[in-house]
Amino acid sequence: MDTTQPFTVAIDGPAAAGKGTIARAVAEAFGFAHLDTGLLYRAVGAQMLAGQNPVEAARALSPEAFEDASLRTAEVAQAASKVAVIADVRAALLDFQRAFARRAGGAVLDGRDIGTVICPQAEVKLFVTASPDVRAQRRFDELTARGHAPMFEDVLADVKARDARDSDRATAPLKPADDAHVLDTSKLSVEDAVASAIAHVKATRAV
Ligand code: DC
Repeated sequence: MDTTQPFTVAIDGPAAAGKGTIARAVAEAFGFAHLDTGLLYRAVGAQMLAGQNPVEAARALSPEAFEDASLRTAEVAQAASKVAVIADVRAALLDFQRAFARRAGGAVLDGRDIGTVICPQAEVKLFVTASPDVRAQRRFDELTARGHAPMFEDVLADVKARDARDSDRATAPLKPADDAHVLDTSKLSVEDAVASAIAHVKATRAV
């Protein structure tokens, strides 16, 4: 197999389903580059919170802007989900993602519309999901471990609000591509979810 050829793994799914962990593990296992596309929308969301026009911010976005650790807050996540509804914001971020996906040596992109809109030709498409309660519990545990004291009901409401906004929008809504392999991580350990994703990529690569 020619390992310098482009090979795209598209991983989509709702917030806190485990797609980031799986994307990083797949990238590492195969030596592929990884792009967390949520960071692009978070960077634009953060700039909107700072008073900028989101469309202009998306057009001027540079890769350094999405390496900022402050993009991980719940406030920025909600702002990201709001700017992600704007078709011109999505259009401004398209070329960067497509170029990343087709880079030599392989790429893993995780997001909401990678298999449906950004890379409909991706060699592998995974849709990683879990029930809202399980995802809220994971987010709750993560926040608690970081020293926050959230209310579970608030975290669950947050997860559901983001799901609704991401799934109901007109442009590139969150949904599995017709040819995506659905991986429900509700009852899986992190190790088993990662192993299952890697096995799926391996099987597809071998064909
Ligand atoms: O994956 P994340 O939680 O970092 O994403 C933040 C928001 O960005 C999410 O609620 C919706 C939006 N997003 C999107 O619309 N399309 C993507 N490919 C990635 C993220």
